[in-house]
Amino acid sequence: MGILDGKTALVTGGGRGIGRGIVLELAKAGSDIVVADIDLENAQKTATETRALDRKVTVVEMDVTQETSVTAGICTAIAEHSRVDLLVNNAGVVGNHVRSEVDLRDWDMCYQVNLKGIWIVSRAVVSHFKEKGGGKIVNIASIAGRHGSAGHAHYSASKAGAISVTQSLAKELGRFNINVNAVCPGLLWTDMWRQLEGMFGGDASREAVNQRKVFERIVKQNCPLGREQTPEDVGMAVVFLASHQARNITGQALNVDGGMQMN
Ligand SMILES: NC(=O)c1ccc[n+]([C@@H]2O[C@H](COP(=O)([O-])OP(=O)(O)OC[C@H]3O[C@@H](n4cnc5c(N)ncnc54)[C@H](O)[C@@H]3O)[C@@H](O)[C@H]2O)c1
Repeated sequence: MGILDGKTALVTGGGRGIGRGIVLELAKAGSDIVVADIDLENAQKTATETRALDRKVTVVEMDVTQETSVTAGICTAIAEHSRVDLLVNNAGVVGNHVRSEVDLRDWDMCYQVNLKGIWIVSRAVVSHFKEKGGGKIVNIASIAGRHGSAGHAHYSASKAGAISVTQSLAKELGRFNINVNAVCPGLLWTDMWRQLEGMFGGDASREAVNQRKVFERIVKQNCPLGREQTPEDVGMAVVFLASHQARNITGQALNVDGGMQMN
C-alpha cells in the first residue's frame, strides 16, 4: 500500500533530471503517472522505467509555454486516466550563461517556461480539479527564488515569481479544496547545472575546468549538511505535499537544500 494509491500525477519536464526523480518517487508511492515533456524521447525513457514499477504511465508531448499544446496534453491525460489528482510544474530552464549582461533571449525563456508555463498548465488543470472536488499543485521553484544571485537575475526573478504565483493560486483556489505549494531545490547535479558555462569559468576555459569539482566545492561551502541534493530528495518532498498528510498545508515553499536557506 502506497500513500498515493489510486492517484494520477502529471509531471511537466518529467523526462530527465529532477522531473524524472519526482516521477519515480510518486510511482513508488503508488501513483499512476503522466510524463509531460517537450522532449518526447526522454519522456519515453522515464515512462519505460516507471512502468517497471507496475504503474500505468502515459506520455504526452507538451510545451508548457503553448496553450494549445498544454490543453491537448491535459485532455489526453484525463482521457487515458479518467482523472488527474496532482500537477507538478517542474519544467524549467536556466539560460545558457551566468554573466552580468544577461541575454534578452535567456530572460524571455526563463519568464516563459519557469513562470508563465506554471500559470498556463495550472489554469488548464484547475477546471478539472474543481469538477472533481479538489486536487493538488506542486510548483518546483528554487532557492534562487529566495534571494537574488549575481549574473543570474533572469533565473532568480522567474523563480521568485514562481513562489509568488504559488501563494496567489493557493489563496484563490483554497475554497475549491485545491492545495498549491512549492518546493525549492538547492544544488542538484543535473544537465541544467552543466549548462552554466559562466559558473565554471566561461567558454574559453571550459575544457580546463573540472565542473564536477567546482560543483562539489560550492556544495561544501554552502550546505550545512555538506551534501548535494538529489532528484529523489525533491521527489520525496513532492510525495509528502501530494499526500493526505499535507492536507492542511497550502501556499508554502519548502526548501530541499541541505539547510542552505533557512527561511
Ligand atoms: N538542478 C538544480 O540544481 C536545480 C535547483 C533548483 C531548482 N531547479 C529546478 O528544477 C526543475 C528541473 O530542473 P533540472 O535540473 O531537472 O533541469 P533539466 O534541464 O535537467 O530538466 C528540465 C526538463 O524540463 C523540460 N522542459 C524544458 N522546457 C520545457 C517546455 N517548454 N515544456 C515542457 N518541458 C520543458 C526539459 O525537456 C527537461 O526534461 C526546473 O524548474 C529547475 O529550475 C533545479
